[in-house]
Amino acid sequence: MYRLIFLVLSACLYGCGGDSTPTGPTSNVSFASSIQPIFNSFCVSCHQTGQISSFLPLTTGVSYSNLVNKTSTQPSGGTLVIPGNSADSVVYKRFEYNRSKSHQDMDR
Ligand code: HEC
Repeated sequence: MYRLIFLVLSACLYGCGGDSTPTGPTSNVSFASSIQPIFNSFCVSCHQTGQISSFLPLTTGVSYSNLVNKTSTQPSGGTLVIPGNSADSVVYKRFEYNRSKSHQDMDR
């Protein structure tokens, strides 16, 4: 599942800005139709006002502006989403870390 999120999020980073030309199957990707539903399903239970991660709301209408080119609040620093550079984006790194962690769990 996390892999799907990377792919869609990465695709959107390249395809949603309007400046770059999307290729292949990413041409129908939009933030509202492809990304926000993922946040709604997997993130907003914590990332909204009144919940544990209210410092970073990922609800409709604010998620994009709260992530793209925003500095991390965490001591490790970094930028949450860097357009065109998923490898250095904190959001991508978090997913990648969680994915490898769950792989370790599966290997036990
Ligand atoms: C169970 C609750 C929970 C869920 C679900 C959750 N988060 Fe979080 N998230 C947290 C907490 C708590 C923190 C702050 C502590 C930390 O950094 O781990 C956090 C931190 C973050 C940060 C770091 C913010 C910063 O300033 O560096 C990002 C980015 C983030 N979450 C994105 C997401 C995304 C995207 C999803 C959905 C795929 C998600 N989270 C789902 C609880 C959650």
